[in-house]
Amino acid sequence: MKQAKGRVLYNKELLRFETAAYFLMHVQSPGLASDCKPGQFFMLQCSGNMVLRRPISIHAIKGPDIISLLIAVPLDGQLAYKKGARQLSELREGNDLDLIGPMGNGFNISSTSKNILIAAGGIGIAPLKFLAETALSSGKGVTLLIGARTKLGLYPSSLLPKGTHMVFATDDGSYGKRGPVSDLIPEYLAGADQVFACGPEAMYETMQGHMKTWPVEKPVQVSLEVRMGCGVGACYSCSIRTRHGIKRVCKDGPIFDINDIICQEVRI
Ligand code: FES
Repeated sequence: MKQAKGRVLYNKELLRFETAAYFLMHVQSPGLASDCKPGQFFMLQCSGNMVLRRPISIHAIKGPDIISLLIAVPLDGQLAYKKGARQLSELREGNDLDLIGPMGNGFNISSTSKNILIAAGGIGIAPLKFLAETALSSGKGVTLLIGARTKLGLYPSSLLPKGTHMVFATDDGSYGKRGPVSDLIPEYLAGADQVFACGPEAMYETMQGHMKTWPVEKPVQVSLEVRMGCGVGACYSCSIRTRHGIKRVCKDGPIFDINDIICQEVRI
């Protein structure tokens, strides 16, 4: 983990829903990407008098010096949170950005896994693109299930890594299979050695229920998102109760075994 000065190379709106807009940002800084692991995040400094940094997951690595981030800008919600995210979304090519990271534990891809199954609920794709790229580059097969409410909310397949087996689902059936992405998981479990997911806590709750009926037992890692203060394990503002006691999402996570989490504790 280090504090670094970055330069924004690109920052444009990629997706917009009723509640949030999502900006794709590329940031350059020497050596920035070398220590990054899928599932980790950076704490980004917002401009002006914003004291707290914003935790943003690493979306992709574009070279040894360039990382890509997906930034959610809430269109409603608490003013301070909204203001910080909006400031980040307003950065333009050539602007400076102060980052600390990479932070958190990251996903653990087992060296013995041959195939992995990834489930992205909505903008849960944010940390999963990097995961898919990393798994593919080490020769693993990747099946990526991507869900959204409607076709308009689906992450563009053209930006996803080539070689990924992609399956789409929408709640309204406007694209791909109809229904939540969690419903697709049992169908693709058989060949997978590990399962990874990122989405709303309601998706994890559904998965925990479904897992009891899965034909085979599989290890499942999920990424949690909560409000953070320091991001380094010092302030305990991100603490949640888990089946193994109190954990700090920034330091002990943000990746957890799905069996360890109590979904009601993870409301953002
Ligand atoms: Fe401070 Fe996690 S944000 S301990």
